[in-house]
Amino acid sequence: SKSPYSAQLKSVIRTVRDWPEAGVNFRDITPLMQDRSAFRKLIDAFVHQYHDVQIDAVAAVDARGFIIGSPLAYELNCSFVPVRKKGKLPFKTLSETYKLEYGEATVELNADAFAPGSRVLLVDDLIATGGTMIAAANLIRRAGGEVVECVAIIDLPELGGSKLIQNAGFSVFSVCEFT
Ligand code: PRP
Ligand code: ADE
Repeated sequence: SKSPYSAQLKSVIRTVRDWPEAGVNFRDITPLMQDRSAFRKLIDAFVHQYHDVQIDAVAAVDARGFIIGSPLAYELNCSFVPVRKKGKLPFKTLSETYKLEYGEATVELNADAFAPGSRVLLVDDLIATGGTMIAAANLIRRAGGEVVECVAIIDLPELGGSKLIQNAGFSVFSVCEFT
């Protein structure tokens, strides 16, 4: 579908039924990372997607987003900016709190992460409800960055997250979908 390697990459993502709770099919990317050929193809797919686009920074979401965000930033020769869970960044931060299925979560970003008008690629491993990606995208805007695209390995379209992200005015790219 979206990369010539989508089917191959999807085949090395493991589904763990009823984890972390009954009814959830957890999409586990660790087998993809352990397979050096698949991991390289994944990063290369993202590099290929953006090599002709002006990108100043890759911002990635704690924790699984870091795994793809850092090699991508290195290859695109741009800076790497972490979007962290609450209480991990020591200096001046911006924060966004958003609703989860149960309760809420907070993500934070360094207030000085971007020069004004920086073009930022936002990266995470997976889009479920979209809450994390939208909160992170709002942080980037508040810090003076422009979100070029929200990038994920996996989209779960039935949860409606990628639609919500697009309705919030952001563009979305994912490598594969699980329904
Ligand atoms: C997972 C995943 C995304 C988010 C997607 O992170 O890595 O960041 O949930 O869900 P959403 O679209 O409904 O917001 P998790 O909080 O499990 O953290 P981890 O990366 O530390 O495992
Ligand atoms: N984060 C939110 N939903 C998830 C799922 N089904 N698999 C892996 N990570 C997730």
